Amino acid sequence: MHTDILVIGTGISGLTYAIKLAEKSPATKITLICKQQLDEGNTRYAQGGIAVVSNFKKDTFDKHIMDTYIAGDYQGDKEVIDFVIREGNDRLNELIDWGTQFDKKENNRLDLTKEGGHSEKRIVHFKDHSGAEIQRALIQKVKEFQNIQYFENHILVDLITDHHTKTNHQTCYGAYIISTLDEEIIKITAQITVLSTGGLGQLYDFTTNPAGATADGLGAAYRAKAFLEKLPFVQFHPTALFPKVNGETFLITEALRGEGAILKNHLGEAFMEKYHPSKDLAPRDIVARSIIQEIKTQKSKHVYLDATNIKAKVLLNHFPYIVENCQSVGINPLEDLIPVIPAAHYSCGGIKVDENSSTTLKGLYAIGECSHTGLHGANRLASNSLLESIVFSHRAAIKTCVDLENNPLEKDFYLKVPDWKGQSYTSTNPAKQTQDLRKQLCKIMNEDVGIFKTTQGLINAQKQVKQLYFDIVQLYNNNKLSPQICELRNMVSVAYVMVNQSLILTQNNGVFYNHDYATNPIL
Ligand code: SIN
Repeated sequence: MHTDILVIGTGISGLTYAIKLAEKSPATKITLICKQQLDEGNTRYAQGGIAVVSNFKKDTFDKHIMDTYIAGDYQGDKEVIDFVIREGNDRLNELIDWGTQFDKKENNRLDLTKEGGHSEKRIVHFKDHSGAEIQRALIQKVKEFQNIQYFENHILVDLITDHHTKTNHQTCYGAYIISTLDEEIIKITAQITVLSTGGLGQLYDFTTNPAGATADGLGAAYRAKAFLEKLPFVQFHPTALFPKVNGETFLITEALRGEGAILKNHLGEAFMEKYHPSKDLAPRDIVARSIIQEIKTQKSKHVYLDATNIKAKVLLNHFPYIVENCQSVGINPLEDLIPVIPAAHYSCGGIKVDENSSTTLKGLYAIGECSHTGLHGANRLASNSLLESIVFSHRAAIKTCVDLENNPLEKDFYLKVPDWKGQSYTSTNPAKQTQDLRKQLCKIMNEDVGIFKTTQGLINAQKQVKQLYFDIVQLYNNNKLSPQICELRNMVSVAYVMVNQSLILTQNNGVFYNHDYATNPIL
């Protein structure tokens, strides 16, 4: 199959990009690949909202720029921070024009909330399920375009590169994709391929990310020889409900602390004032480490979030999803403390891209969490990720129009791209083996590549992940390819790069914390 544009991943980044491009270029054929259904993916689980300067009476671009830079521990790219924040308002208005609902006050102005690290109320939200509302509106809009088609239940296997075509253009020519239903592998050639595949949370046992966050785009980009940057900067969200519910970790939005909820230890003490002057609304990395410190000191399994001081009306109106989910496991946030722990949440690093989301490989873009733009520095400011997605999708769509005009390759070239070459099969129970290897990988990541790291732990992890890598290559070589093997292959490659990059760092910044370079138990 050939398409002009192949977009892999259908969260806010992939969908916004597709809409923008379809509007600008109605003759361009755009194909979307979704891992599950069109409405499933990381975006849907975003609770907080989008950080945008919209109340110009109180807030300024400069304040948001400073908050982003400080939260990122002064490691962010100043130019990128500047344009993302200044362009955010226009992009937000487009989302609204496309039908996205955001909560409003009685005077019809947007209802803004606050989250950790923000000096002003600026989070635009729809109750406590902003991502789901954005996803709903984008899907509705995408379906209006005749030139957008989509395939559900398909996973990226590999990007098509010079390695497959025996050429030397340093270009991406599309991708091999596997169906999760019948495991058939199809070849889709494309002039432009866009990765918007989200993050890598599933490398960890406790993660706020859904099951699909298995580093697919990152793994494929690595094999295609695009650059991966800053992978050690994995952000842990301070408050996920403990324990898991039906095997899944449920996020308790930071906006709850924005409305006044307080973290408490097992003795009932509010502890954040010991660690940071901004207390419960300190930058996320500091709150997460403070919680782990309390858990260690108290020898407990979790801490608590006390939301009982928030008015019942606010809790029920603004946080209905959280109230409902907590109540489903017997916790009533109106009266009870909510048990919480930190959980892997967001990859601040990713595939290196420029100001238009182009990667180092021609014809390949990366947008959203799988990319590294420089916005987040060493720690992402809360609710800046959806902002990054809408700004970069817009820029990438504009740049794509230029690339389409200037594609030097003849149409015939794509006909010569070979079909996927299968392996011969030998193993008898690859499903069980795949599951066991994945468990081993997660165990190493939890133990040695989590919130607190040590050099010795990282060296152990490096050795073990390397061995696992060889075991997984063997599994891949000896079996009929399955979606589960594809995921594991990506996860182990990305884990290996992350551990290696972590060992190179000799200074702690933001979410990266190695005890051996620490001058303070938390900071
Ligand atoms: C949250 O709602 O706490 C998550 C928001 C974010 O990660 O940006």
